[in-house]
Amino acid sequence: MNWQGFWDGDHPIYVNARHRQIHDETLAHEISAEIKKPDMIVLDYACGEATEAHRVAEKCATLFLSDGAATVREKLNKRYQTNNKIIVQSPEDTAQVMDGTIDLIIVNSLLQYLTRDETKKVLADLHKKLKPEGCLLIGDVIAPDVSALTDANALLWFGFMHGFFFAALGGLFRTLFSDYRKIRGALGLTTWREDEFLSLLAQTGFKAQRRKKNFGHNQARMTFEAIKSF
Ligand SMILES: C[S@@+](CC[C@H](N)C(=O)[O-])C[C@H]1O[C@@H](n2cnc3c(N)ncnc32)[C@H](O)[C@@H]1O
Repeated sequence: MNWQGFWDGDHPIYVNARHRQIHDETLAHEISAEIKKPDMIVLDYACGEATEAHRVAEKCATLFLSDGAATVREKLNKRYQTNNKIIVQSPEDTAQVMDGTIDLIIVNSLLQYLTRDETKKVLADLHKKLKPEGCLLIGDVIAPDVSALTDANALLWFGFMHGFFFAALGGLFRTLFSDYRKIRGALGLTTWREDEFLSLLAQTGFKAQRRKKNFGHNQARMTFEAIKSF
C-alpha cells in the first residue's frame, strides 16, 4: 500500500472520537482566525474530513474543500450537501478553478506525504490560483530533526490537556502495528529544513516567513505564511 491507498482506506489516524473532534475544532478555529473579511474565497487543500468546516464557512463567502481521497470527498459531500457556501472538490476540480481568484489557501499536514517534486508542483499550482497578494498557509511541515518520539510526546500532551490521555497512549501502541507505521517505515515522511522550504517558496513566487506558532497541537512542526508576490 502507498499513501494514496492509505488515505482512501479506513485509516485510524485519530485515537478516538474526542481526539478527532478536538483536532477539527482547533483547526477550524485557527483557520477562521485567518479570514479577515466576509467576502473572502478560501481553499482548504488536502482538507481531510474537516468535520467543523461549517464554522469556517460562516466566516467567508465560499469555502472550497479539496481532498485527494475519494472516500474522504464522499463523506464531505454527505456532510455539507445543504451548505451552499461549501464546495467539495478533487485536486483535478481545484485545477479548474479560475487562476487568480482565491484569497486564502490552507494546506495543513500534507507535505510530509508528498515527494519533493510533488510538493513543488502543488505549490506552483496553488500559487496560480491565488489573487495577487493572496495568502498561502502551509502547516505541520516536519523538519529533519523532529523524531517520531517528539510527535508521540506532542500527542500525549494534547490528550492530557483535552481528556484523552489514555486513549492517546492506546492509540500510540496500536500505531506500532498499523498500516501507517508500515508505510511510514517503507516510504518515510518527507521533511524540509526551514531555510530550504523558505527558498522553495521564494522561487515559486512568494514572500514567505515561518510563523512562531504551528497550526494544531504539535509545536515541533512548522507553519509558513507565504504571500503571492509575483
Ligand atoms: C493528515 S491528513 C490532513 C487533513 C487536514 N488538512 C488536517 O490537518 O486535519 C492528509 C489529507 O491529505 C489528503 N491528500 C493526500 N495526498 C493528497 C494530494 N496529493 N492532493 C490532495 N489531497 C491529498 C489525504 O486524503 C488526507 O485527507
